Amino acid sequence: MNEAGSLAVLGAGHARLVIARLAVKSGYPVAIATSGGPEDIALITELVIPGARPRWAADAVADADIVVLAIPMHRFPDVDPRLLSGKLVVDAMNYWPASDGVLRIFEHGASSEIVARRLAGSTVVKALNHIGYHELEDRARPAGAPDRRAAGVAGDDPAAVATIAGLVDRIGYDPVRLESLRAGRVLQPGGPVFGVVLTRPEFERSVREDAGSLT
Ligand SMILES: NC(=O)c1ccc[n+]([C@@H]2O[C@H](COP(=O)([O-])OP(=O)(O)OC[C@H]3O[C@@H](n4cnc5c(N)ncnc54)[C@H](OP(=O)(O)O)[C@@H]3O)[C@@H](O)[C@H]2O)c1
Repeated sequence: MNEAGSLAVLGAGHARLVIARLAVKSGYPVAIATSGGPEDIALITELVIPGARPRWAADAVADADIVVLAIPMHRFPDVDPRLLSGKLVVDAMNYWPASDGVLRIFEHGASSEIVARRLAGSTVVKALNHIGYHELEDRARPAGAPDRRAAGVAGDDPAAVATIAGLVDRIGYDPVRLESLRAGRVLQPGGPVFGVVLTRPEFERSVREDAGSLT
């Protein structure tokens, strides 16, 4: 097994293709799945994410150390929490009323807390949601590059946050750890770092001013 673990990416939309591609490039074994069968995404996977393996979601998740959940929020209720039980789950989702419709439970507070409540048997970390997919790929840089940017990692479990910080670092961003899923609300739409690609000092300043929640 790869020492950093293996990934299953659920969702094959724009954002997830980019996450999967960056992860493959960083040396992670990556499986990708949608709610359908692997044959539905075989061609796009081969063309757009060479090296990733299309699989049924249950198989991809069973073999993965880290599951990246990257589906539209209004489809999240379709996910059976038992599928993800016992897994380290990256919540890369955003609640967008314009495309998701109004989902009352997500109207206030930190969406990842609600995701974590539903996935009670999983360990949830919020990450990879706040940078648009074009930029996520274009701005990725190796550690130490002078123009490297930052990406937030929020969670209630410090060991899980450390693992996902490692993933973020390997795919090309300085990870900025946030002490809880609640603090991770700064990463979601309307938050101070959503949709902007900042250096670590800029990111930390924005977050500190907004939440005072850096670890
Ligand atoms: N676009 C961005 O720049 C960006 C950046 C960061 C985060 N995000 C967030 O990432 C999420 C997805 O965005 P997107 O732009 O990639 O969406 P998208 O293009 O609409 O793609 C959604 C993907 O999710 C799959 N899916 C839906 N339900 C599923 C399920 N139960 N199990 C497995 N796969 C499922 C869909 O495939 P099937 O319908 O075939 O199952 C489809 O491949 C959103 O929450 C978004 O806010 C987006």
